[in-house]
Amino acid sequence: MNVPELVGTARTLLAGDKGLLAMDESTGTCNRRFAPLGIPQTEEARRTYRELIVTTPGLSESISGAILYDETIRQRTKDGIPFATALRDSGIIPGIKVDTGAKNMAGHPGEKITEGLDGLRERLGQYTQLGARFTKWRAVIAIGDGIPSRGCIEANAQALARYAALSQEAGLVPVVEAEVLMDGGHSLKRCFEVTEEVLRTVFNQLYVQRVTLEAMILKPNMVLPGLASLTQEPVDRVTDATVRCLMRTVPAAVPGIAFLSGGQSGELASARLQAMSVYSQSALPWDLTFSFSRALQQPALEIWHGDEKHRQAAQAALVHRARCNRAARRGEYDSRMERQ
Ligand code: G3H
Repeated sequence: MNVPELVGTARTLLAGDKGLLAMDESTGTCNRRFAPLGIPQTEEARRTYRELIVTTPGLSESISGAILYDETIRQRTKDGIPFATALRDSGIIPGIKVDTGAKNMAGHPGEKITEGLDGLRERLGQYTQLGARFTKWRAVIAIGDGIPSRGCIEANAQALARYAALSQEAGLVPVVEAEVLMDGGHSLKRCFEVTEEVLRTVFNQLYVQRVTLEAMILKPNMVLPGLASLTQEPVDRVTDATVRCLMRTVPAAVPGIAFLSGGQSGELASARLQAMSVYSQSALPWDLTFSFSRALQQPALEIWHGDEKHRQAAQAALVHRARCNRAARRGEYDSRMERQ
């Protein structure tokens, strides 16, 4: 394991005011996003859409790394250029989601365990050959009656840590994604408690599994009330709760935290990131950035709608959301940017 090289890659991903683009939706998730828009749920439609993303002019001004999916990292542009090469040539570091999905957890109704450790060492070798320089594994934790259970949190944290150790062994920077879901009617306080417990457990397991904290990126949820909660909190309460929770749980050795969007609208995710960036100018130990999928892609996907004549407009929408988040990272986002 070449630690200086891993640390260098992590720092490049976090440098300046850029962030990560998650375009690693599994086939099922991508199809579920296509379905309501009437886009054909075919490999060729997914390829065409991902080509639109990786060939977007100017994307690398705001995006340092893009996370691909197993199908996507094997695909090419219509000119025959592998997507990972197209990204690299435009100045974006290619990454890859390496888990094989969150499955129902035995004995734990309503909870999921993320799978994909079997054969992971061999798959990491293949992904390196295909051009990946970093990886992602996503654990999902649901909040509900009597959940999450300790069993679910511990099993997911251990899987995350074992994945991260294997990834570093392969020379790939792990993006450790621990997502407390927004589904449900829970309060901000409940999300805080669960996120704190999850992150404490994850960092304990990362220590036990000998993961080098300086060579990883944490990808957490923001601390938010559930989508069905009657009390939706103002931006400053979300910012305060999120930063307090991270301060309690994330060691200063971790170079950066890249938030997932989790189903927030693009504008709200930018506004909350903006508030956190302003807060972080008063000396937080880690860089704070974004690693959004829906909050970056959704407007572009809706404009494209499966029709190539909307390609340029969709690319412009993607660049716009990326620029808004880049501005947010600098603490310069203003909702008036949305009307420009
Ligand atoms: O796995 C989920 C992605 O990495 C983040 O997606 O920003 O839509 O929550 P999201």
